[in-house]
Amino acid sequence: MEGKTLILGIESSCDETAASVVADGRIILSNVIASQADFHMQYGGVVPELASRMHVDSVSATVSKALSDAGLELSDIDGIAVTYGPGLVGALLVGVNCAKGLALVSGKPLIPVNHLKGHIAANYLCFEDLKPPFLTLLVSGGNTMIVKVNDYCDLEIEGRTLDDAAGEAFDKIARVIGLGYPGGPKMDKAGQGGDVNAFRFSVPKTESRTDFSFSGIKTNALNMINETKMKGTDINIKDFTASYQHHIAKYLLSRTMRAVEETGIKKICLAGGVSANSFIRKMFDEEKVRSGLDLYYPRLDLCTDNAAMIASCGYYEYINGSRAGMDLNAKPSLRFN
Ligand code: KG4
Repeated sequence: MEGKTLILGIESSCDETAASVVADGRIILSNVIASQADFHMQYGGVVPELASRMHVDSVSATVSKALSDAGLELSDIDGIAVTYGPGLVGALLVGVNCAKGLALVSGKPLIPVNHLKGHIAANYLCFEDLKPPFLTLLVSGGNTMIVKVNDYCDLEIEGRTLDDAAGEAFDKIARVIGLGYPGGPKMDKAGQGGDVNAFRFSVPKTESRTDFSFSGIKTNALNMINETKMKGTDINIKDFTASYQHHIAKYLLSRTMRAVEETGIKKICLAGGVSANSFIRKMFDEEKVRSGLDLYYPRLDLCTDNAAMIASCGYYEYINGSRAGMDLNAKPSLRFN
């Protein structure tokens, strides 16, 4: 790795404690994830206080493993990138304080990373020739937006959700129909082979052509579930989840295509946990064939929270001169721009 810039990334914004070393923003040398998902499953969602405590327990070992898997010492690293928001405040604080401690003892620069920008950077790890400008449909547990990536560190929001995130629309309905937590992947599995036209959902209207709204679709789905219950029958889970996911995928695609029209940019990346969804990928794959989109999406393990994406994003921030001091704090509601 002679001559390459090595960034250690640290991520702890929700229920994954993760650390990774990435070279030149593109080559993953190690990628360690200690997931708490199985633990939080018993509560039907992430319990913030417990998540923070579990991060405290695992952060040191996770960072040590990331360095040893890469065959490196802290002294070999050029910069320490850390997620400082958005996310759960107590969870973020663990990663931020760990990164600050490492920066202090090693004298290495501390690089603050916005978690959402990290999700976009996951694509750089999968496609070595991918370069801005491009559009990203960023769909995660807490956010849904279309981002115009003018350059690595110059990003503009083209559209955003006015209420819930796509991930919430998956997780809430999955919980109501008894699939449990985390809802997205479970719903994805439940809908395989189902009839995508069995149930019809509304298409929300927003003032801006590229904004989203999911609360109406969610209410629509809840009403269908309740109506079926009141009739004393059970909803057909396979068909219902297939139709619901197909509808959300179609909605996401239609808004993204409007952004393509408005910006003239036909290069599209998908990013965030929900971009792992097979219905969404299929819908975008079909559009790629139909209209010649230049389409990219990260491999599955890089869609959900990980530190390699933070190290990749951190690399471009590092090159751009971004540095944080020892006063870096967690920002749970960190804005995108
Ligand atoms: O990006 P992410 O790991 O965390 C945030 O930064 O928010 O996203 C988590 C979200 C959850 O809502 C989860 O249910 C959803 O991603 N998700 C999926 C799938 N895999 C994860 N949603 C739909 N289909 C999937 N296969």
